[in-house]
Amino acid sequence: MLSICPSMLCADFARLGEVTRELVAGGADALHFDIMDNHFVPNLTFGPMVMSPLRGLTDLPFVAHLMVEHPESLIAETVERGANIVGVHPESTPHFHRALQMIRGAGAKAMAVLNPATPIQFVDSVLEDIDQILVMSVNPGFAGQPFIPSSLDKVRRLRAFLDARGADVPIAIDGGMADDTVGPAAAAGVRIIVAGNAIFDTGRSLGDAIAALRSAAEAAIKA
Ligand code: DX5
Ligand code: ZN
Repeated sequence: MLSICPSMLCADFARLGEVTRELVAGGADALHFDIMDNHFVPNLTFGPMVMSPLRGLTDLPFVAHLMVEHPESLIAETVERGANIVGVHPESTPHFHRALQMIRGAGAKAMAVLNPATPIQFVDSVLEDIDQILVMSVNPGFAGQPFIPSSLDKVRRLRAFLDARGADVPIAIDGGMADDTVGPAAAAGVRIIVAGNAIFDTGRSLGDAIAALRSAAEAAIKA
């Protein structure tokens, strides 16, 4: 099972409701919201409130990717605003385990997010506390950056690391996913694809872009 998750950071903010409906009709599996604070990452986007008016439009899972310092203070509101999955970076808090527990305590699934330079071992002590791991294949902060090729080896090592521990945790990837990078990522073990530019900035319809990513990834898995 492969999931395609559009990053709403690349959506037309003047048409967020229509875009949400188009993504649902176009076959998106979840919607990814990049919440940035201009401290943990050098960009400022939107807070969890952006999810509220969209929550009533679809039952698709909302994934909140928290790129903020002190994520603990935003977790409860993020879940109240409609997030089903909340991602936190271990680099953003001295109390990563507590943050993961807070996410589940608030009723959402917990996602660990690893920056390109962050070792996979950061999840070793929290395997029972996470539902998903997001490998960043760019440095977080901006859409449209080039894919970092060493992310593929990281995904392979992470998959082996998890399998060796009997951890049935799916690996997601975020950053630079496109028709040519999604296949290698899927072959390496990724099952959840986050994509911004490759869905919103190709000149194709959103549904066609989602379908192209899905077929390239599925072909690589079958090969
Ligand atoms: C980067 C964000 C990504 C980004 C993806 O900090 O976490 O979700 O929007 O955009 P693309 O797919 O264009 O790299
Ligand atoms: Zn993201």
